[in-house]
Amino acid sequence: MEIIIKKDYSEISSESAMIIANQIKAKPDSVLGLATGSTPLGLYKELIRLHLNGDIDFSNVTTFNLDEYVGLSNDHPQSYSAFMRDNLFSKINIKKENVHIPNGNHPNDKECERYESLIKSCGGIDLQILGIGSDGHIAFNEPSSSLGSRTRIKTLTQETVRDNARFFDNITDVPKFAVTMGVGTIMEAKKILLLASGNSKAKPIKNAIEGPISSMCSASAIQIHPKTVVMVDDDAAKELKEKDYYKWVYNNKKNLNL
Ligand code: PGA
Repeated sequence: MEIIIKKDYSEISSESAMIIANQIKAKPDSVLGLATGSTPLGLYKELIRLHLNGDIDFSNVTTFNLDEYVGLSNDHPQSYSAFMRDNLFSKINIKKENVHIPNGNHPNDKECERYESLIKSCGGIDLQILGIGSDGHIAFNEPSSSLGSRTRIKTLTQETVRDNARFFDNITDVPKFAVTMGVGTIMEAKKILLLASGNSKAKPIKNAIEGPISSMCSASAIQIHPKTVVMVDDDAAKELKEKDYYKWVYNNKKNLNL
């Protein structure tokens, strides 16, 4: 794991956008795995800026989103389809047919298998963006999710429902089910970039990076992924025991131009 500790959210957003820009420059038909939530918003703003600047061409890029709520129509303002359209896709030159989001309206095993097959038929995910939930989840792989799990329907924890209530008028409006890529699906991405910012992420980041690999914190599975970058700000890094060492490694590598 490469652990990069940045000053604040704004630095995470611009640095992670550079990683994506470099990925697309190196492979214009990259397959990106995308996340929703507050964390990647700054990254998406930066990607739009780079695109408008002429620095990133999304015309051959394909994307797969991690998850979608069950039961919200695609145009419901809190659906992840609407989130992605409003915050990224409508502002870049990505082709509609290259955008894939799990179908939360007809969630069944066949639909989940179709999503998995589609990822495989596109050659797999080159770079997967992840956030982390306060309960340590990646996508909606809540505590006790099998670390080998595939795309399926999950029941959200009460903690996740409370966390996500900020996006809805009322907590009772928050869906309790989602279709989500599994931990096993995510682990097949060639590269992973996990982003976290703020005090509320300090504990899950500590558990994910320095805790045991456990289904109780599905993000801890990244410890066995061969190419993962974890990019956090000082607040999210504050409980890391080896924080100084991670900074030391990063600074030395930078000096070597690695
Ligand atoms: P957030 O959500 O980016 O809104 O904090 C992350 C997550 O729940 O995975």
